Amino acid sequence: MANKLTKDYIELIKADKEKLFDFIQSENNGRLIYLLNKLGKLPNDFDESPLLYLLDCQDAKVRYLAVKNLAKLVRFSLFSVFKQLVINDPSADVRREATSAIGRLRNPKTIPFLIGLLKDSDPEVVMQAIRALLVFRNVQSVAKKLEQLKEHPNEIIQDVIKKEFFPSPTNKKTFKHTEFPAFLKNKVVLGDVQEIIKYIPDESVHLTFTSPPYYNARDYSIYQSYEEYLKFLERVFKEVHRITKEGRFFVLNTSPIIIPRVSRQYSSRRYPIPYDIHPLLVRMGWEFIDDIVWIKPEASVKNRNAGFLQHRKPLAYKPNARTEMVMVYRKETDKLIDWNIKQYDRKTVEESKVIGNYETSNVWEIDPVFDKIHSAVFPLELCKRVIKFYSFKGDLVFDPFAGSGTLGKAALMLGRYFFLTEKDPKYFERIKENLGFIDVYYRIFKSDFKGVEK
Ligand SMILES: C[S@@+](CC[C@H](N)C(=O)[O-])C[C@H]1O[C@@H](n2cnc3c(N)ncnc32)[C@H](O)[C@@H]1O
Repeated sequence: MANKLTKDYIELIKADKEKLFDFIQSENNGRLIYLLNKLGKLPNDFDESPLLYLLDCQDAKVRYLAVKNLAKLVRFSLFSVFKQLVINDPSADVRREATSAIGRLRNPKTIPFLIGLLKDSDPEVVMQAIRALLVFRNVQSVAKKLEQLKEHPNEIIQDVIKKEFFPSPTNKKTFKHTEFPAFLKNKVVLGDVQEIIKYIPDESVHLTFTSPPYYNARDYSIYQSYEEYLKFLERVFKEVHRITKEGRFFVLNTSPIIIPRVSRQYSSRRYPIPYDIHPLLVRMGWEFIDDIVWIKPEASVKNRNAGFLQHRKPLAYKPNARTEMVMVYRKETDKLIDWNIKQYDRKTVEESKVIGNYETSNVWEIDPVFDKIHSAVFPLELCKRVIKFYSFKGDLVFDPFAGSGTLGKAALMLGRYFFLTEKDPKYFERIKENLGFIDVYYRIFKSDFKGVEK
């Protein structure tokens, strides 16, 4: 019976070259792979020959793990072995691992070969070569070669090179990351967001969460064409980008909508709003982060099944739309999320932690809410989740299409501040009812907030 691959047994084979050879020659690839994964740290005097022998194995996974273990030895004598693998091995994983192994040698003699790899057709090999060469970035010729990769077709490579060699200047900001203009604090403005937003300084808001008008599916949204509608959203979201702080989030709730048929001779039209807006957002500098799906109970959504239920004919199937998209974007930056978090003091970070149970998946089951005045309001729970996951206490959250003001209500409950715009006076009144304050509403928008009339 085969020996159990216990920790002790693995240590025993590791220390004895003959035993390791025996194992390699007599065991199946499954056990061999298990062993190679568990070898751990190798002693300085480890005899590499059993691992070199495995480089001729048919199974690419075995070759890959052999290289991974050989790399741990950091022996310059293995450079030519790794080089041959990068040049000849048919497996992409083996080539990538061999490139990384060369990097671990940190030896200037590897530089010419690594520079040659910057032209490799596998971007992951190029990435490994870049990592290895960054160690020698003080050598002028190396830095020059790396800088040239700014125009590399692969976007991840471009990002790394830009971050390393062309970091975006930290322009002097009017406000600290955690601060925002006081005149926006807990304010609701009645008017067209396109007009209002012009007066908001760059980098003022920490989080925007909104649900825009649904093309022409509701009374409050009348556009000449779908193209005009998308252009309108593009204009607004470009401005939202401008007023958003570096590296902060924009969460957008939309769903495909249906415009009913004109008469029985025509079919209804479905517009895939989230999918059409997405490329526009990415182009204007929003980095795609996550797609969360909001699911409602089937009984709460419009039934589209009546016909199909009777006739059951293919092609005429119409599923009930229980989902809406909650797309998460971040204002593009070369700074990590950690940088954003570090802008806050310890107390704020501690107090903003999302404690207790929380939704761990991107499927959020939340019942819809119906309002007596507004026909499409956010459930409070949806706003609360977005605020908790994507902002800190004391932050400013913005909804350009505020409707009944649900986001403002959630912000207040969670110790954040809100700034809302809504163009329909009927809904503006509803916000007042919902939020209860009286001194935060502006009807007329003048040249800027300082001269505004209440
Ligand atoms: C889908 S509703 C938002 C509902 C909101 N999330 C809530 O919880 O009540 C979209 C809102 O955008 C408003 N709206 C449409 N165009 C606007 C514009 N140009 N400026 C400001 N608000 C606008 C509409 O009046 C409508 O109330």
